[in-house]
Amino acid sequence: ESADHFPAVVIGSGYGGAVAALRLGEAGVRTLVLEMGRLWDAPGPDGRVYCSMTAPDQRSMWFKRRTEAPLSTFLWLDVINKDITPYPGVLDRVSYPGMSVYVGRGVGGGSLVNGGIAVTPPRSYFQQMLPQVAADPMYDTYFPLANRMLGATTVPSAWFESTEWYTYARVARAQAAKAGLKTVFVPNVYDFDYMRREADGTATKSALAQEVIYGNNFGKRSLDKTYIAAALGTGQVTLQTLSRVRALRRAPDGTYVLTVDRVDTTGTVVATDEITCRSLFLGAGSLGTTELLLRARETGALPELSAEVGRGWGGNGNVMLGRANHVWNPTGAHQSTIPVMAIDDWSNATNPVFAEIAPLLAGLETWVSLYLAITRNPERATFTYDAAKDTAVLNWTRAQSAPSVAAAKALFDRVNSANVTIYRYDLFGDTRAFADDFCYHPLGGCVLGRATDAYGRVTGYDGLYVTDGSLIPGSIGVNPFVTITALAERTMARVLTEDPVGGR
Ligand code: FDA
Repeated sequence: ESADHFPAVVIGSGYGGAVAALRLGEAGVRTLVLEMGRLWDAPGPDGRVYCSMTAPDQRSMWFKRRTEAPLSTFLWLDVINKDITPYPGVLDRVSYPGMSVYVGRGVGGGSLVNGGIAVTPPRSYFQQMLPQVAADPMYDTYFPLANRMLGATTVPSAWFESTEWYTYARVARAQAAKAGLKTVFVPNVYDFDYMRREADGTATKSALAQEVIYGNNFGKRSLDKTYIAAALGTGQVTLQTLSRVRALRRAPDGTYVLTVDRVDTTGTVVATDEITCRSLFLGAGSLGTTELLLRARETGALPELSAEVGRGWGGNGNVMLGRANHVWNPTGAHQSTIPVMAIDDWSNATNPVFAEIAPLLAGLETWVSLYLAITRNPERATFTYDAAKDTAVLNWTRAQSAPSVAAAKALFDRVNSANVTIYRYDLFGDTRAFADDFCYHPLGGCVLGRATDAYGRVTGYDGLYVTDGSLIPGSIGVNPFVTITALAERTMARVLTEDPVGGR
């Protein structure tokens, strides 16, 4: 065996990649994890691993000259984004003509930048979206396993009711109730004991210091602290960072050959290696995995890949919006970055919406209620391969976001009319009330049961698996990482039992 051969390789270290790595390691399969982002473990000159949202520096974003925060203006003023030096920062915004997609970069993928909301989807909707997946084992085994491994818990209600840090959520709950809408607590992977100590002043603040989308220095159980730590603990798993897989092909003996660009922190490719493996697990996320497979099919490297590769993409119906409250209804200068409550109107037959009550992190009173709405948008988009640029391009159009906006508007018009309030038009760079041009929840591109079998085995190639969000057909009705994790657990349980993984 050469130094560059591994029985198994995992591409990407988000939810799908991290689950694959742990279960391979536990099964005794020597595994290499390739991650294009950094390992976020070393403090910068300020003594902190991550920068804050209010004073972003090069660590904030993936090779950008200026930050591109989702909430880009306040009172239409360009006061939020800052110039930065290009660097492999933790949050990326990948822009296609009709949609921008936020993704995490680094060991832990999206878990490094996300809000930690850990929701199991309603069973009936899960079955509707993934009819090939038997629901009993998911709801009896894999969802509970995923939640336990991820460390999902719910905010202690007595503390929630009393702390100033969740005033914004209580205000939004009361306003939803006035409109006859139900709110629910949503579990989260943030350590609420830690958060209480932050509030007491006995622990260094993170969620209570405006940290989230550029990383949390404390408190959040991101994947590097859960699955990936456990994977490394098996002694079988090696991590290689700042290593972007560019191409995949197959040698005549069935070995997969990966072309891997190693970059330095300026983005310069310092080496291009070929790494080979028997079994290949794709956990590069909806954008990353789909691009790798599409490129492989379109360049003829893996010509047997299904025509379904590249199809079935959706942004989980994401829409962000803000409402303006009356002066007698302050939402608080102090807001925890970690959302713990949602308006749950998913059972609404005509306009299902699950809207997370989000903080607006200004550090001063804004009287704004902010929401990330998840809607049931039936539109789907396709990635096509642009040979000249060697990239995948998503053909989502702005018009396809209209059903998401209509559903969010139907719900929040009710909230506004019951509370005699209006939308905010100053938060998203122009005068739109609904931010429909970006999403946090990219899903699909290699849909389960279409581009793969019912377990994520890629059609046309044995030993090739997808374990990430590209398996989910564009919509799951709730924040997606628990579903991605549970499906990856299901795939790994099956393939490690049935397939000769790593040449075993
Ligand atoms: P994920 O994107 O996590 O990981 C893919 C990894 O592969 C990345 O680390 C990437 O760098 C790497 N990669 C890609 N291409 C590669 C290549 N060619 N070579 C090497 N490495 C490569 N969800 C939720 O359930 N609750 C929440 O609260 C939130 N909140 C939220 C906030 C924000 C700001 C964002 C951006 C996202 C969320 N999400 C969320 C979404 C959630 O984070 C997302 O669904 C998952 O991270 C997707 O998991 P995957 O395993 O599919 O890929």
